[in-house]
Parts: sequence; structure tokens; C-alpha cells
Amino acid sequence: MDVPNIIKKLCYNDDGDDMKSILIVLVLCFTLFSGTAKAAGTTNNKVLIIAHRGDSGYAPEHTMAAYNLAKEQGTDYIELDLGLTKDEHLIAIHDDTIDRTTLGSGLVNSLTLSEISLLNAGSWFNEKFPDKAKQEYNGLKIPTLEDVINHFGTSINYYIEIKNPEEYPGITDNLLKVLESHQLIGNNAIRGKVIIESFDRNSLKMIHKKYPNLVLIQLGDYPEEMNLAEIATYADGVGPNYSTMKKEFVENAHKNHLLVHCWTVNNETDMKKLISWGIDGFFTNYVDIGKKSQNAMITASVKDVTAPSKPVVNQINDYDKKVTGRAETSSTVTVKAGSKVLANAITKAGKFTITLKSTLKAGTKLSVTAADHAKNVSDATIEIVVDKTAPRTPTVYQMKNNDKKVTGKTEPGAKITVKYGKKVIATARAGKSGKFSAKLKSFQKAGRTLTVTAMDMSGNISTKRTIKIVNKTALKRHLR
Ligand code: G3P
Ligand code: CA
Repeated sequence: MDVPNIIKKLCYNDDGDDMKSILIVLVLCFTLFSGTAKAAGTTNNKVLIIAHRGDSGYAPEHTMAAYNLAKEQGTDYIELDLGLTKDEHLIAIHDDTIDRTTLGSGLVNSLTLSEISLLNAGSWFNEKFPDKAKQEYNGLKIPTLEDVINHFGTSINYYIEIKNPEEYPGITDNLLKVLESHQLIGNNAIRGKVIIESFDRNSLKMIHKKYPNLVLIQLGDYPEEMNLAEIATYADGVGPNYSTMKKEFVENAHKNHLLVHCWTVNNETDMKKLISWGIDGFFTNYVDIGKKSQNAMITASVKDVTAPSKPVVNQINDYDKKVTGRAETSSTVTVKAGSKVLANAITKAGKFTITLKSTLKAGTKLSVTAADHAKNVSDATIEIVVDKTAPRTPTVYQMKNNDKKVTGKTEPGAKITVKYGKKVIATARAGKSGKFSAKLKSFQKAGRTLTVTAMDMSGNISTKRTIKIVNKTALKRHLR
């Protein structure tokens, strides 16, 4: 069994400071992908499944049957709780007595290995769980740590708990000796092949001093009581009881560059919730449910991360009351002016038509985006509303035969053209108020007809205004 990727990233470093840097990068990845994202964190960094006491929901805990089943189901790690016999052999057992999981009774530390080797460690399971009972479980024994390592070698990853060091003096040294003799820790070992967990921080601190590269997890019953900054000085992660754990704890642990491995998670709903919170692994009695949840979250994350391409938008004119174009099928296309949402519509067969409440002023800057079902939003397509409306026919003031200019009013900034027949005799640009004054090179004879048009900045031309030059004298007479 390969060492999982997340641990591999921690492994191939001899230098403790480098290792911390890599942890920081990992944690940053988690943080970046959390939320929209962290679901995405789970796509990039698989959450570890740790078979709690083996696949102990289906086979008697801490027996070779439970460990074999966990391996077959594809667990990332097999968890072993350790006890120390009277004659100082490490055995795989959770309780400090043999009462619950064998037909015998007594404290583990009061019995020799030969006494323990006679015990039936499987029949209790058949009696307690008749629906999962198997004949072969009746003959199961309590394995020693050596039995487990000799059987699996490096084909599995070990997650070992140092239990009750006060009841088992010397258990930590004994464990390190066994692991070293099998080259599972030390200079030639693959980092992460073994993880050591304990509620006892002194044991972990002592191990950290001797083996600074060994991956250590500080267990805790109450997450809120864990001093994360202090734990980060000797451990790589925390193993909280998840029942009272909040999402913020995961975030805080990551801020302290600590992995989060929760125990003991046995239902799919909680597994998925915790994965979505960004945890890095969980202990479970049911590896198959763990795998199912892990895969479902990976699939969901993968589906969720791809945003649609940015929409292709057809030209929007100032007389249009629709925005049309193409975008990913079934995506929601939204038109905004600045931060204001104007309207949206869902694409059908890759096309969209969005109806606006009113026409838009020429020059308005619009952004058009497409969002898929997972709310991934595309880059925005920027469109400027095109001016397609001609200026109104210019107003031109009365002209006399001794005038040398044509004056009037039109759209601000429009270009005025004055013609006599087909000949252009004057041009001018209207000011901000729209007023214009076009100078003539010569006086115009009374009775002549001139035409005046206005052209806006976009080249739209108004209809003609026709004016007739009047005689100055006649006009005066008329006014008298
Ligand atoms: O090791 C994590 C978890 O297993 C702690 O609980 O009592 O099952 O060893 P326990
Ligand atoms: Ca345990």
C-alpha cells in the first residue's frame, strides 16, 4: 500500500524546517480550496480513511480478520491500539483488560503473552452481532504487534496508538524498538508509513525529540480544549473526537499547520459534512462507507470546479430591449451595469435571450456572465451599448441675406453641415449645450434655400432642416 499523497508530501524531507514549510503549503492549499473551494480541497488532497481497530464494524476488533478486511476494502491506514503484557510484549488491544473482547478476564499487564495467546478473541463478536457472525471468527487470537508487522510488512500503513503509558511503563521505548527493527521508522523508513497517535502528550514529545520526522497526532476528547499552537511544536496533527467539533476548529488547526484526523466517524452524513469542512482524515469502523463518502465528495468536488466559458454576446444597440448570444447550455446568464443586475435568463440549446426593462443609453458598459448549476461563474464579457440613434432635425434660427453665419441648436457634440444644393458651404461642431454657429465664407442671396444636417459621434445623421434666406430690408419692413 502506497503512503497516501498527503503524507508523502510530508515525507521526503530530512530537514524539519523544510517539512514545516511544506505543511504550510499544504494548509494553504486546504484554505484556498475551502468553501467554494474546499470542497475542491478534497479533490486535490484525498481525505485519509483510517480503519479504526481494523474494519471493526464487520469483524472482531484488533484481529487479523479485521485488519485483512480493512486492507481489502482499500483503507489508507490500519489503526492499532497497543497494550503491554506482563512479560513486555506489545499486543493489539483497546481495553486495559481482556474482559470485553475475549472469554477470559484480567488486566492485560497482569497476563503473560503465552496466557494471552490462548484466548478466543472472536466469539464475543459473533454473539454480539449475530447478523455479522462468521464461523471463522471463533478461532481468532489477539495478535502481537510483531504478528501484524510480520504479516503485512510494508503492504499497509500503520496508525498506532500508545495507550495508557502510566499502566504500561516502557511501552513507548518498546514500540520504537520494534518499529526500528522492522525499519518502519528511522533513517531508511518511508515517512508516513507509520503514524503514532496518543492522548498522552509527554509520550509524543518524547518521540518527537528522538524521531523528529515521525508523523505524530495528538488525540483529544474536547477539540476546544486543545492548545493548537503548543501541539504544533511537537505534532503534525490533531485527532479530535468530532462529536463536539466545529468547522472553525478545522480552520484554526490548519492555521497552526496541523492536520485534522477525526474519530470515530461511522455514518455517511457525518463523513461528508466533515470532508466538506476540510478535515484531512477520519477513523471509521466501516471502511466501505468511508470510501463511498470519500468518492462521492471527490466526484461532487470535481463537478463543481469548472466554470462555464465566458458568453458570446451579440452587439447591443441603444434601441435594443434584448441582449442575445450564446453560453453553456442550462447556465444562467446575467447582465449587469456596474454592480446593478439588469436581468438574467437561462440558456437553451446554448443560446440566450435576455429581456431588458428598458433600452440603454449609448455608451453604457455592460458585463455579461454565465453561472452553472454549481454556481461556478464564468469570466465576464464586456459590451458597450452602441449608439444607433440619429440626432433630431437641428433647430436653425432665421437667416438674413447679410448674415455670415448659420446658428441654431442640436445634439451636443454633433457636427453640423450646411449645404447650398449639393455644395457644402459651412460646417461646425455643437458645444456642450448643443448650440452651434457655422461661419459662411460669403453672404447668401435672399430667397436661397440652404439645408442643415447634424451628425453624432457614431456617424448617425439627422434629417435635413431647410431654411430660406430672407431679405434684411423686407424683414425690417415686416417687423415695423
Ligand atoms: O485513536 C483514535 C480513537 O480511536 C480514540 O478512541 O478509544 O477508540 O482508541 P479509542
Ligand atoms: Ca484508538
